[in-house]
Amino acid sequence: MKTINVGLIGFGTVGSGVVKVLQSKRAFLRDKSGIDLKIKRICDKDLKAKRPVKVAKSILTKSIGKVLYDPDIDIVIELIGGVRPAKDVAMEALRQGKHVVTANKALLSEAGEEIFALANRLGLCVGFEASVGGGIPIIRALKQGFVANRIDLIFGIINGTANFILSKMAEGDLSFEDALAIAQAKGYAERDPQLDISGMDSSHKLSILSALGFGVFVRPKDIYTEGIGQIESSDIQYAKELGYAIKLLAIAKRVGGCLELRVHPTLIPKSHLLANVGGVYNAIFVKGDLAGENLFYGQGAGASPTSSAVVSDVVSIAREIASGAKVEGCISFKKDVAGVEKIEDVKTRYYIRFSAIDKPGVLTKISGILAKYKISIASVSQKARKEQKVVPIVMLAHEALEASMAKALKEIDALAAIKKKSVRIRIEE
Ligand SMILES: NC(=O)c1ccc[n+]([C@@H]2O[C@H](COP(=O)([O-])OP(=O)(O)OC[C@H]3O[C@@H](n4cnc5c(N)ncnc54)[C@H](OP(=O)(O)O)[C@@H]3O)[C@@H](O)[C@H]2O)c1
Repeated sequence: MKTINVGLIGFGTVGSGVVKVLQSKRAFLRDKSGIDLKIKRICDKDLKAKRPVKVAKSILTKSIGKVLYDPDIDIVIELIGGVRPAKDVAMEALRQGKHVVTANKALLSEAGEEIFALANRLGLCVGFEASVGGGIPIIRALKQGFVANRIDLIFGIINGTANFILSKMAEGDLSFEDALAIAQAKGYAERDPQLDISGMDSSHKLSILSALGFGVFVRPKDIYTEGIGQIESSDIQYAKELGYAIKLLAIAKRVGGCLELRVHPTLIPKSHLLANVGGVYNAIFVKGDLAGENLFYGQGAGASPTSSAVVSDVVSIAREIASGAKVEGCISFKKDVAGVEKIEDVKTRYYIRFSAIDKPGVLTKISGILAKYKISIASVSQKARKEQKVVPIVMLAHEALEASMAKALKEIDALAAIKKKSVRIRIEE
């Protein structure tokens, strides 16, 4: 039986989970794969911290070099997070002839193109199943399961924290702040939740999914990203009345020859499968020209689901090393879209909430401006009657150009009768 040595860098939440699996399931994995996976060394900045798993002191080190330059280590698992020094770790591990496994979406969305190019040139593998969707095997599905498909659409809920907050707001008529506090108390949101609620974490993951689905590497800063901070519980209630749920969606859509890439809160029909994905769960919808519509659902984070994905990469690479075959992980990203559409050119339907003084003529002014920008209204309702006081007016607009909507709202918000920035949320059917 072949032994494959593994070196781990980053002994935190996921790192400890991976060690636990490799230790407690060593015989199980040996029986399944015919390979003995041995943890040769574990590196972390802090060797004194209490971990949920016991390891021999002799394998612990603070030196990254002790992993990267150990000739017996075949696979380096990078679980420190962030772009630096994780990028140097991944690149140097490859230069040293080692395969790399990572869960690091920030790293791959920023430097994936460079890392994959080096790996391909050296005939080595970078496993990144854990970088999107936690335990959901979405990377393998896109890389292998859908290999014969032209991918037309990938969209989903890929941030559990934001989904938990929106679900809590919908269930209990809670404010964003109260729902966030519950998420933090339950350990679903970090003390600084910015990455999750701003939509940036979803953009990191969408960047990876679109590289796999459409062969384009788009940095997160170039993906249109809007978070959930401006959603009020009243929006969720009004959306419900209109037959919709509000979800933070990451969307990669082939339109004509181009790709639409965007992350933002979205109204989706209550009857859509994604509308019923609650709590911290993730769900990713993939449409291919052959396989049609497919939905992947599962736990998008946490030590156990994420280690399930990390270990699946380790086993798959180990199998190939043992068989002497060229590693399957070497992926070629072939661009099959002309480019990425600018957000200004995207067309969607809209939900809009105006905060307007209740007095005659206001609605006429609003609809006049919308008409000027060729935006037609599908429905309108004023949610209360309080003469001369601020009341919400909720509109659904037919499909309109993003640039026109932005201009129209700027003009409407400048009206004396509008007392707060108007809220607009895109609708996907
Ligand atoms: N947690 C999840 O559910 C989850 C899910 C999917 C993907 N991921 C990804 O998995 C990766 C790890 O996440 P995590 O939640 O396990 O993070 P974590 O708990 O913060 O663990 C990271 C560990 O690496 C250590 N570290 C940081 N820089 C280091 C360096 N230069 N040298 C040695 N050790 C270093 C940290 O030490 P200090 O604490 O002292 O800095 C910490 O112990 C990230 O890329 C994350 O995005 C996490």
